Amino acid sequence: MSDLDTARGERELESKARALRDDLARYNRAYHTLDAPLVSDAEYDRAFRELQAIEAAHPEMQTPDSPTQRVGGAPRSDLPSVRHDVPMLSLSNAFDDDDIVAFDRRIAEALDASAAARSIDPEKNDAIEYAAELKFDGLAVSLRYEDGLLTQAATRGDGSVGEDVTPNVKTIASVPLRLEGGHPPRLLDVRGEVLMFHADFDAINRHQREAGGKEFVNPRNAAAGSLRQLDARITAKRPLHFFAYGVGRFEASPTGDVLPDRHSALLAWCRTLGIPVADQCAVVKGASGMLDFYRTIAQQRAGLPYGIDGVVYKVDAYAAQRQLGFVARAPRFAIAHKFPAEEAITVIEHIDVQVGRTGAITPVARLAPIFVGGATVTNATLHNEDEIRRKDIRTGDTVIVRRAGDVIPEVLRVVIEKRPANAVEFTMPSQCPVCGSAIVREADEAVARCSGGLVCAAQRKQALLHFAQRRAMDIEGLGEKVVDQLVERRLVQAPADLFALDQATLASLDRMADKSAKNLVEAIEKAKQTTLARFLFALGIRHVGEEVARVLAREFGRLDALLDADWNALVEHKRALQKENASRRDKADDAIPVPLEGIGEEIARSIALFAAEQHNREAIARMRAVGITWAEHDVDVAARASSASSAGASGPLAGRTFVLTGTLPDLTRDDAKARIEEAGGKVVASVSKKTDYVVAGDAAGSKSDKAVALNIPVIDQEALLLLIGQTTSQEQSDAR
Ligand code: IVH
Repeated sequence: MSDLDTARGERELESKARALRDDLARYNRAYHTLDAPLVSDAEYDRAFRELQAIEAAHPEMQTPDSPTQRVGGAPRSDLPSVRHDVPMLSLSNAFDDDDIVAFDRRIAEALDASAAARSIDPEKNDAIEYAAELKFDGLAVSLRYEDGLLTQAATRGDGSVGEDVTPNVKTIASVPLRLEGGHPPRLLDVRGEVLMFHADFDAINRHQREAGGKEFVNPRNAAAGSLRQLDARITAKRPLHFFAYGVGRFEASPTGDVLPDRHSALLAWCRTLGIPVADQCAVVKGASGMLDFYRTIAQQRAGLPYGIDGVVYKVDAYAAQRQLGFVARAPRFAIAHKFPAEEAITVIEHIDVQVGRTGAITPVARLAPIFVGGATVTNATLHNEDEIRRKDIRTGDTVIVRRAGDVIPEVLRVVIEKRPANAVEFTMPSQCPVCGSAIVREADEAVARCSGGLVCAAQRKQALLHFAQRRAMDIEGLGEKVVDQLVERRLVQAPADLFALDQATLASLDRMADKSAKNLVEAIEKAKQTTLARFLFALGIRHVGEEVARVLAREFGRLDALLDADWNALVEHKRALQKENASRRDKADDAIPVPLEGIGEEIARSIALFAAEQHNREAIARMRAVGITWAEHDVDVAARASSASSAGASGPLAGRTFVLTGTLPDLTRDDAKARIEEAGGKVVASVSKKTDYVVAGDAAGSKSDKAVALNIPVIDQEALLLLIGQTTSQEQSDAR
C-alpha cells in the first residue's frame, strides 16, 4: 500500500470515528436525557464497539469528549445534582459462551497464585467462585442510608454526578425508609435498579392511550420517565420496584455489622436489612457454572414479571475484586452476559397482507433482514389497520422491531427522524390477494376479513394447518409446505379429505421422500383416534380455543349434545346463577357452581352460529365417516349446574382446584395443567377461598402471597407430582 493510500485510509477512519462520536452523543442524549431512544440497544452497542476498535488501533484519534471515555448519559438539568462519593460504573459485556470462557481465564490468570478467590480446597476444585445475578433492565440508583434512615436517592447520571430523586424514590413501596435490624451502619449507599413490571407498563400505556397521552417505548423508559419527575406525586402513581445489586460507600457504626467479605454474603445481608434482592442469585464455579446459570435464567426469563437483558457475574470474594481492580469504565472483576438483543432497527421494504384461518387480514411488514432475539427476521406483524395508523408506520420507514421468545416479531415504533421523503402510507386492499373476494371490515371490529370463506385457498390452508397442529389433531409432518401443495393441487379441500390420502399421492409432492410419505400416512391414521376436546379445538370454531374446547368437552360429554344445545337458554341460565351468586356476595363460600366456566355470550353465539350451518354439520359427518373417533360420555348439562363440582369426576385430584404461579423446574405451565386435569383436578387463574392448592415455582408472584394469607397450602412441583402419584399408588393398594 502506498503512503498516499495509507493517508487516505486514515482520513476515512478519522471521519468514520467522528461520525460515530456524533451519532453516539446524539443517541446518548436521546436515551438518558429525553428518555426516548433513537436506536435499539444492539445498534448502540455496535456503534460503540466500532468506535472503541478504531480508537484502540489509533489512540491518536481518541478525543477527550469521546463517548468511550464517559460512563453514561449527562444528568438532566432540572433536577438537583448529586455527586456520587463512589462512582457508579458500567459493566463490560459478553455476548457468547467464548466471551465467558475468556473472562474466566483472564480472571484466573490475573489472580494467578492468589487463593483469595478460590474455594476452600484448591486440590478438589480450583474454579473461581462468582456471584451470579440478573441484569435488570431498569435504571440504576444509589440509595443513601444514614443511621438506618433513607436520606438520599440519586440516579446514576454520568456515573459521577446523578440527579436527586429522593422524594420520588420514597414513593416506591418496596424501598425501606428505615432499615430493619437493631444496629444499622453509620452510612450505607445501596446500589440497585429501579424497574417497572410488565403488567404495570401495559396498564399505564393502555391508560395513556385512552387519555390520548404519549405512550412509553418500553418498561425501562417508563421507569426512568416515572422516576425522573420534578413532582413526586406523579412518581407515586407509577408502580415501581427496586432490587439491590451492590453497595457504594459504607461506614460501620461502632456497634453494627462490618461489611461482609463476599458479594453473595453482602446480598444476603441486604435482605436482612429489608432491602429487596431478587431471588435469582447464586454462587457458581468457573465458566461452566456461569454458563449453566445463564441457561437457567434464559428459560425463566419469559416468566419473570419484569425485564432483564442478561445476567451479571462478579468475582465473589471482595479481596479478589480489589486485586483485580478496574479498567476505564468498568470493573475487571465483573461482566454482563447479555441475552441476544430483542430489539433491533431495520427498514420496511414493503407492506402486504396475510389471510388467516377465519379470513382475518393481517398487514405484515417485509423487512430488510435483521438479526434480533437470536434469529434473522424478515417479517413482522403490524396487527391491523388501526395499529398502523396509531404508530404511523409507512413503507420505507426505519423501524424498531422486537422479537422476544416465541412471540411473533412486531414493529414497536418508527424512527421518525429517518423517514424518507417518499415513504408510502398503507392502504387496506379492497380484495383478498388470494381469492379476490371482497375484504370487509365490520363497523365495530378492528379486523378486516376476506369474505371468501372456504372458497379462499388461504383460509382453507390455514384451517388445515390449525386442524393438524400438535395441540389439535396432532398430525406430525403436515406442515405449511405440504398443506400448500395439497390445497394448490386440489388434493385436499376440507380436513376429511386428508384421511383419503395414500402414500403414492403424498410421495408425488415436491420434496416428499417415500419414507416421509409413509410416516405421514401413518400419522394421519393415528390422528383418527382423538379426544372430544382436541376435535372441538381442531374444528376452528371462532372463539373456541384449547381451553374453551376442554371445558365444552368436559361439560357436554357428547358432540351432538353440544351442537344441539339450546345456547340461548344456557346463557340465560348462567346469567341467572351469576346474579344469584352476586346477591350473596358476603357468603362467597355458599356460591352456586356456575356451569360452563369461562364461556360467555360471545362464545355461545359463535358455537350456535357454527352449529346452525348445515355445511359444518356435513363436514363433521364426513370426518366421522372416515373414522375419526373419540370417547363420549353422557352428562346432564342442566343437572351439572346444581351439582357440587364441575371438575373431572374421577382421578386422584378429583374435585381439587389448583392455581399455578411462577416457573416450575421441569414442567411448562401447559404440562402442569394437563397433568392436573388428567388426574381429575381443575386449574383456575386466581386464588380464592375455594382454591385447594397453589403450585408455586420460581419467581412466583402475588398469588402465593395471597395463598399464604388465605391459609391455602403452597406446594412445589415435587409435591404436586407426589400428590398425583402417591394418591394413585394409595388407591392401587386400596384396591388390592
Ligand atoms: S453492577 C461495578 N449488577 O447495568 C459494577 N449492574 O452496565 C456496577 N445493572 O448501570 C454495576 N443489573 O444499571 C450491576 N446485577 C447487576 C445489574 C447491573 C443491571 C445495570 C446497572 C448498571 C449497568 C452497568
